[in-house]
Amino acid sequence: MNDTKNIKSHKIHLFKEHKEINCLENSTILEATLAAHINHTHACGGQAKCSTCRVSIRKGLENCSPRNEAEKLIADKLNFPAEIRLACQTHINGNISIRRMVSDKMDMDIIFEQFSDQSGIALGIQQKLTIVFTDIVNYTSLAEKFPPYDIVHVLNRYYRIMNTIIQDNNGIISDVAGDGILAVFGMDNKSNNSVLDAFNAIDGMNEKLKLFNKYLEENFNIQFGIRAGVHYGNVIVGPFDTGAMKKMAVIGDNVNYASRIESANKEFGTKLLLSEEAYSEIKNKYPNYNMYEATLKGKTGQYKLYEII
Ligand code: FES
Repeated sequence: MNDTKNIKSHKIHLFKEHKEINCLENSTILEATLAAHINHTHACGGQAKCSTCRVSIRKGLENCSPRNEAEKLIADKLNFPAEIRLACQTHINGNISIRRMVSDKMDMDIIFEQFSDQSGIALGIQQKLTIVFTDIVNYTSLAEKFPPYDIVHVLNRYYRIMNTIIQDNNGIISDVAGDGILAVFGMDNKSNNSVLDAFNAIDGMNEKLKLFNKYLEENFNIQFGIRAGVHYGNVIVGPFDTGAMKKMAVIGDNVNYASRIESANKEFGTKLLLSEEAYSEIKNKYPNYNMYEATLKGKTGQYKLYEII
């Protein structure tokens, strides 16, 4: 006979619902929430197949049972951090606080798409990367004097050429906006110095630009230059999906910082500036520099920016 009186129970605090429920020691988190009439999504019926029951353990992770094989399969595939657990597979031996991660159909749709993502970072991760912003010197001469189809054509040619160089140096173009490119280096951990990769890529871009400028000179009587800002820091990397467009993107304060560094080139009349964090990664190889102290839009204080000479 099942005598629940002698079975220990623990408290689960539900962050979204602002309430506390009991969980018997031999029950899973999902069994406890369902018993408390919480509308806890569990599309596969608790078979460790869908991950829609996933919860974020806000407190008491040490009170959760280790992942079993079934949970481990899903956790490895989706690269779950330790605190994301399948409620249908997790037992507890002490009090915990959780936040259910699937609230509605849209959450479910996003989760099901994560299953088909092959990148291994479907949930998004924090990674230390080198972030590069570039823009084109003299782009406005083209934009002001030539019709839209010429601008689009030239920019597509430019992106295509630059993309090859960036990829050759272990980087990817994360975004383009007008004449600007946002590229990141270090995502696939192929090299042990992503700042050096970025620096080599910018060097290569300038080399390729010489040839491209011949084309521009011949066809449009203009020449381009490249300005670049480089920073090295933590960013959030993940697949972002608007419904109409899906892309792997990087976000975070360090991305904005790299953009501000690129803009500072105009103030100092430079073509390439690196943050202190980025420069320290390559200073042994490039010991000669000019240093500028800058105030950057949207940031407080003074920042040291480095130009390699
Ligand atoms: S209910 Fe499907 S994995 Fe938990």
